[in-house]
Amino acid sequence: MKILVVGSGGREHALAWRLSKDAEGHDLYCAPGNAGTAAIAKNVPIKAEDVEGIVYWAVENKPDLVVVGPEAPLVLGLVDALEAEGIKAFGPVAAGARMEGSKRFAKEVMFAAGVPTGRAEVFKDPAKAKAALAAYGLPVVIKADGLAAGKGVVVAETAEQAEAAIDDMLVANKFGSAGAEVLIEEFLDGEECSILAMVDGERAVLLPSSQDHKRVFDGDKGPNTGGMGAYSPAPVVTEEMLPEICERIILPVVRELKKRGIVYRGILYAGLMVTPEGGRIAKSGSRVNVVEFNARFGDPETEVVLPRLGGSFAKALLNAASGNLSEDDIVVRPEMAATVIIASGGYPGAYEKNKVITGLDAAAAKGAVVFHCGTRAEGDSLVTAGGRVLSVTGLGATLREAVDIAYGGVREISFERAFHRSDIAHRAFERS
Ligand code: AMP
Ligand code: GLY
Repeated sequence: MKILVVGSGGREHALAWRLSKDAEGHDLYCAPGNAGTAAIAKNVPIKAEDVEGIVYWAVENKPDLVVVGPEAPLVLGLVDALEAEGIKAFGPVAAGARMEGSKRFAKEVMFAAGVPTGRAEVFKDPAKAKAALAAYGLPVVIKADGLAAGKGVVVAETAEQAEAAIDDMLVANKFGSAGAEVLIEEFLDGEECSILAMVDGERAVLLPSSQDHKRVFDGDKGPNTGGMGAYSPAPVVTEEMLPEICERIILPVVRELKKRGIVYRGILYAGLMVTPEGGRIAKSGSRVNVVEFNARFGDPETEVVLPRLGGSFAKALLNAASGNLSEDDIVVRPEMAATVIIASGGYPGAYEKNKVITGLDAAAAKGAVVFHCGTRAEGDSLVTAGGRVLSVTGLGATLREAVDIAYGGVREISFERAFHRSDIAHRAFERS
């Protein structure tokens, strides 16, 4: 098949890499891609958000499938525009991508569908928002409605912090139009995990569970990032929970969207909070609650979930995009996976770029698979081009083996001011 992957991060490198492993062989393109995708696909110099440019390329080049990685082009209607030209695309239409683009919309859909999630209310008026706080107790969560690059969420420990967050969003306009409305949300107690469901408009098949590490430093300290590592499977999600997650969370959302005239095809990513025995049970009465939905593959979750899939990945994506998904399309291999992000000093704040990267061949020789997140080729060298630079994945018969292989790879790689977390998968190890 001729396939275009849209995006330029570790997720898109993992998508292209997994497609390159399909037995049937594909003609792969990536827009715009990075130095990693260049080795396995042809990079096309069109930005992911350039909807017109991508549609123009697709009309000229007639791919069998376009796989959209990031949320921005989904929210901008890339899939709608491709479908209007008769081109198959994996990812939801813009109306479906609102499950990620608008937290208010996502809550409305969840409440209408009876999906367990934190109780929440929406406010435009700061005084009314502050008056509502008392009913939520502490901690309480304040969220900007729209996309704010992961920064529009404040878990407030005190009433003062909650009021300051409301003022930042509604009075000081810190997040622009994304913060024109705020949600006040019940705090959910427990451990987070990610469930990516492949959806074809009607049916859903869950991909293996995973857990991301959002904070920048070991021990889950420091500011939030795009993700510093991940592993799969996540033992916080037990086998018994999976059918319940599909029946009580994913499928009700798909049906509720359909009722509203939205045929959701692509990945529906549920960020879940699992409350432990003895933890504070949410008002929903459920131990598993939705924290948020995303309309795409997670990053770095993709770098651990896709290496665990067997069978033809292109066929699974195409069947989902065509409304023909079946359970058999998703084959999970027994190996476990872990990935460690190597980031640039200063990230998630300001960081420098253009640092020469060495050691990738040595990392591969140690058995690690290295996905490029923010890299660029400069002459014969590879240089850094982002905050998250590489995602180093290990696969093993046990999670310990997978983690050891990933860190074995990390030790071979260097660039100026590189850093990484050294405790990826610690929650899984603390359980056993
Ligand atoms: P979000 O952008 O909605 O995923 O929120 C970012 C992070 O804030 C989540 O990954 C959680 O760690 C935390 N968070 C968001 N909502 C809640 C909640 N209701 N209770 C506890 N933590 C939350
Ligand atoms: N790893 C979190 C996300 O992709 O949103």
